Amino acid sequence: MSEPQLLVTDLHVAYGPIKALRGVTLQANEGQTIAVLGANGSGKTTLLRAISNMLARQQGSVRINGADTSGVRPHQLVREGLLHVPEGRGTIGRLTVRENLRLAYDLRPTELSFEAALELVFARFPRMKERLGQLAGSLSGGEQQMLTLARAIVNRPRLLLVDEPSLGLSPVMVDEAFSVLREFQAASMTILIVEQNVRKTLSFAHQGYILRQGQIVASGSGAELLHDPAILSHYLGAG
Ligand SMILES: Nc1ncnc2c1ncn2[C@@H]1O[C@H](COP(=O)(O)OP(=O)(O)O)[C@@H](O)[C@H]1O
Ligand SMILES: [Mg+2]
Repeated sequence: MSEPQLLVTDLHVAYGPIKALRGVTLQANEGQTIAVLGANGSGKTTLLRAISNMLARQQGSVRINGADTSGVRPHQLVREGLLHVPEGRGTIGRLTVRENLRLAYDLRPTELSFEAALELVFARFPRMKERLGQLAGSLSGGEQQMLTLARAIVNRPRLLLVDEPSLGLSPVMVDEAFSVLREFQAASMTILIVEQNVRKTLSFAHQGYILRQGQIVASGSGAELLHDPAILSHYLGAG
């Protein structure tokens, strides 16, 4: 048996005196979607930032494809196939749509030409073709979210970390975002999603973890958690 693609063991992260993660352990096998759910302030963003080495850890380990990532620079992790879609989208407003896509494409070597990668984006989001020369900062909120997902389409990561993709979106755009994530899932991408949108997320995740004040307090298959109203209402107020 090979190791899971992502293995986080006893992870502790603090901001000075504030202990944001207190011993988080989780794993994702290749092609699996795992969800980490938790209220605002529970440590979700900290977890993703620690996995992509944008934050130092006090204790514990993160292994990707069997290799310990401690000391590996974030951009090197990206080259190896880890893409982190941050909270607040991660697009660069003063660059054009095309330039934003080019940057995401260049982060990671691939056999696909940039032009061919763009065609994949246009097939999914015809609107992006019309917006190609426009500054990302001039796009509507929904279009910026499309651009965020389009960055993932051209980057083609093996492991995608997504921070609250539904935040601030209209219901139609939330559905759109989840449908793109389902396509990534169907293409065997490994996905770690953190969300407050409990039901939508659990209905597509293979495995779910509930994070509370920096600790995993429950876990199970997406379906198990979805059908356990006691857990959902107790920890998330979402029963
Ligand atoms: N840059 C920071 N400096 C100090 N404390 C922070 C910082 N970022 C987050 N925190 C604290 O760490 C905890 C977890 O935050 P965060 O990971 O952003 O949670 P979530 O993404 O689940 O809302 C919270 O108590 C938050 O106030
Ligand atoms: Mg957050």
